[in-house]
Amino acid sequence: MPAPTRLSERISRIQVSATMKVAADAAKLRARGRDIVDFGPGEPDFPTPENVKRAGIRAIQDNFTRYTSAGGTQELKEAICERHAADFGTSYTPSECVVSAGGKHALFNALQVLVDAGDEVIIPVPCWATFHDIVSYCGGISVHAPTDEADGFAITAALIERRLTAKTRAVILNSPCNPSGTVISPEEWDRIFRLTSKRGIWLITDECYSHLVYDGAPFSAASIRGARSTVIVAGSLSKTYAMTGWRIGFALAPPVVISAVSKLQSQSTSNPNSVAQKAAVEALRGPQGFRGEMLAEYRARRDFALEALRGITGIRCHEPQGAFYLYPNIRLVLGRTWIQDTTQFAEQLLEQAGVAVVPGEAFGTSDHIRITFAVSRRDLERGLLRLKAFMADLAE
Ligand SMILES: Cc1ncc(COP(=O)(O)O)c(C=O)c1O
Repeated sequence: MPAPTRLSERISRIQVSATMKVAADAAKLRARGRDIVDFGPGEPDFPTPENVKRAGIRAIQDNFTRYTSAGGTQELKEAICERHAADFGTSYTPSECVVSAGGKHALFNALQVLVDAGDEVIIPVPCWATFHDIVSYCGGISVHAPTDEADGFAITAALIERRLTAKTRAVILNSPCNPSGTVISPEEWDRIFRLTSKRGIWLITDECYSHLVYDGAPFSAASIRGARSTVIVAGSLSKTYAMTGWRIGFALAPPVVISAVSKLQSQSTSNPNSVAQKAAVEALRGPQGFRGEMLAEYRARRDFALEALRGITGIRCHEPQGAFYLYPNIRLVLGRTWIQDTTQFAEQLLEQAGVAVVPGEAFGTSDHIRITFAVSRRDLERGLLRLKAFMADLAE
């Protein structure tokens, strides 16, 4: 009998995450002894705060090591609702909260319960590639709404309105945006909410970077009056508390959505890791000073890296207002040499200069690369010097 090879049709609709591919390519070169500066990954270079680590250790020692309810513990749901209320002035209750294995998982599950085959989901571009892949996996259609770089990649109600059709089921927004760092103002959020709510369209807000804003206060669309019935928050502890590996995220949404996501988890992953849930409670209820310290450091790195990038001939870069990425435009060197697109640029930069970046094609634009500044200042300096030398070689 021949071995079976057939896979489902839907798995062929999605790609391996671009950032994970960059990480794998960089790891291969490192294994061969190359010194690589890795601007690829989207994760804090800070360790998880000590009090949070201790809470995890305590959970193990206390044998908090069994199944919890599939949608997370009551204690953690309460802590999530309390923290969201304190940070953004919302008033969610645990029946409007589900805990998942990271923000990506929360988003994946929310889209699985909301999107049917043929439903359209509007996504401003550039965007985190995962949005598109999850929508495709659900059988939905991603409708990309390109933003304008000259306008700082602004995400507006007008931009979304132009893409609305009778099939629009949801809009996914991410502010601050990965990769552009664009932040949606409260006034614009209000316009977007009015636009979507009056048409009965779900407004999904990915708040993964919501605490990483450099000007003004963090804002949640869920704090708009009346928003709770049509807004879905996908949140994460990964970046805010330097907890990427612990895998804790959540959704805040109307109870009907939360019950559906919990049901899905009950038949797929079951509960998020019990020990990580205890650590998450400590992160959310413990001292919050760590967040401000990280933000101050990121701001200093952003300013340093932006100045360095702007000093490189052939690169243009707008100032990100949030998150920890720079999204420089390298159009000037594409096509002039044998490097035709940003994927080839990223491959050569890694191979020749030992610097890993993510090509803009992964985020839906063709002229950019993504650089994370969530790396040490030393690496930032070294990597940007290498990039400068690489660009100078291309110009010759
Ligand atoms: C825009 C955005 N949303 C969500 C996530 C998910 O993070 P996690 O699954 O670690 O919570 C990421 C991670 O990079 C992201 O960039």
